[in-house]
Amino acid sequence: MFIAFEGIDGCGKSTLLQYIAERLRAAGRDPLCVREPGSTPLGERVRDALLDPATGELTAWTEVCLFTACRAEMVSTQIRPALDMGRDVLLDRYFYSTLAYQSYGAGADLEATRQLQLEAVGGLLPDLVLLPDLTVKTADGRRSGGDDRMEAKGPEFLQRVRLGFLDLAAGDADRWCVLDGDAPPADVAAAGWDAVSAKI
Ligand code: TYD
Repeated sequence: MFIAFEGIDGCGKSTLLQYIAERLRAAGRDPLCVREPGSTPLGERVRDALLDPATGELTAWTEVCLFTACRAEMVSTQIRPALDMGRDVLLDRYFYSTLAYQSYGAGADLEATRQLQLEAVGGLLPDLVLLPDLTVKTADGRRSGGDDRMEAKGPEFLQRVRLGFLDLAAGDADRWCVLDGDAPPADVAAAGWDAVSAKI
């Protein structure tokens, strides 16, 4: 199983990922948990640059290229080898984040961005995408600490991102499962696990 977790900042996807990982371990499986950007030496360094407010404004295509470069590296060095060994992979953000943030959010051409993603990952699509969805206002209230460079883009930007994720989900409904991110965490976790079990 290759499962991607998507959603706006503060939606609860990382908590959900940890829960699904625990359930899979309890079932005797050995999931690889990785995050984007990050999880490779290059990815962690580029992540620091992308999230550091000191980096300042970047064009949408600069961001597309940086996120996508990390992703290409991660797919070939971590995800494909793990899948080839028969392990499950749980991925905290995949290329749908680039489509939602850089295309729907920041205006990079959607079809060109999508084509680039498919090239960069060699066409590797997840079996399931879990999307805890909730309002930008609720998500904002949940985040603690200062905003990183991406989070500082503001509520209108994040609203475009949120609608982008919902549009991507609607266009590929067999692969995506939209969860009510406003529900109590235990209910989000249970609904997420139901979706995973159904795919297994
Ligand atoms: P995330 O891992 O959610 O950050 P956090 O450590 O705060 O949980 O993601 C980092 C940020 O990068 C987030 O605001 C979303 C953004 N992002 C993109 O804009 N495009 C992408 O392709 C990816 C993977 C992330």
